[in-house]
Amino acid sequence: MLAVSTGSPYWFASRGAGTVSAVLLSATVVLGMAQTVRFRSTFWPRYLTIGLHRDLSLLTLAFLVIHITSAVLDPFAKLGLRDALVPFASWYRPLWLGMGVVAAELTLALTVTSLVRRRLGFRLWRTLHWLAYACWPLALLHGLGTGSDVGRRWFLALDGAAVLAFFLFLVVWRLSFGWPRLAWPRLAAAALSGLALVALALWALNGPLTPGWARAAGTPEVLLGGGASPTPAP
Ligand code: HEM
Repeated sequence: MLAVSTGSPYWFASRGAGTVSAVLLSATVVLGMAQTVRFRSTFWPRYLTIGLHRDLSLLTLAFLVIHITSAVLDPFAKLGLRDALVPFASWYRPLWLGMGVVAAELTLALTVTSLVRRRLGFRLWRTLHWLAYACWPLALLHGLGTGSDVGRRWFLALDGAAVLAFFLFLVVWRLSFGWPRLAWPRLAAAALSGLALVALALWALNGPLTPGWARAAGTPEVLLGGGASPTPAP
């Protein structure tokens, strides 16, 4: 969360669009996995998964543009184009903001390479598309590490639902039924995923959800001073 915010309209726009982007990105990734495991039912035909996956990825990019532009225009953190484009170069929470920058650039790359998939060839496209498994966790950590609404129940519920859906598809479905000849790597991946889940919960409880997080996250001292903040306390 921010220490002291000007509460400018850009700040509200950035928070809103950031949350919508994160929800859309999660839905896109889950639909991508559903496509891979060829999920379908009477009520959910496969063409729905394919179409929604593509459309939601484009919508994610649109909301990301709003999120990033308003974050740069918000006078509080004094972010510039460089902060929004070069990962980990920001003076404001470099690690957590940097993760958002990498996630946004990966989202753009994943969408563009999918649009030109025929020209790239299936193999290359598919290899590049594995980057989605790095993109989504980075976006999640970015939102938790630098968001103002992290202490809110609805924010945690949204993140919790996204994590649950991701792990259900990845661990329960993909790793249980996919790659039948790679039993040990699948087991190792499932164990690592479980460990990552525990580590995420422990980190959130001892990091972003604790009162001193603004300083620990790398907020510059000048922005940590007193003043009325519209930021709700977690
Ligand atoms: C896939 C890419 C990204 C996603 C999904 C994403 C999502 C989010 C989310 C969910 C939040 C928390 C919002 C809240 O507290 O209500 C957030 C906060 C923030 N993001 Fe991003 N973000 C991304 C990329 C970026 C980039 C590239 C920038 C660079 C300027 C950026 C700047 C910020 C800032 C400054 C905040 C803190 C806003 C606040 O005070 O709450 N984000 N982001």
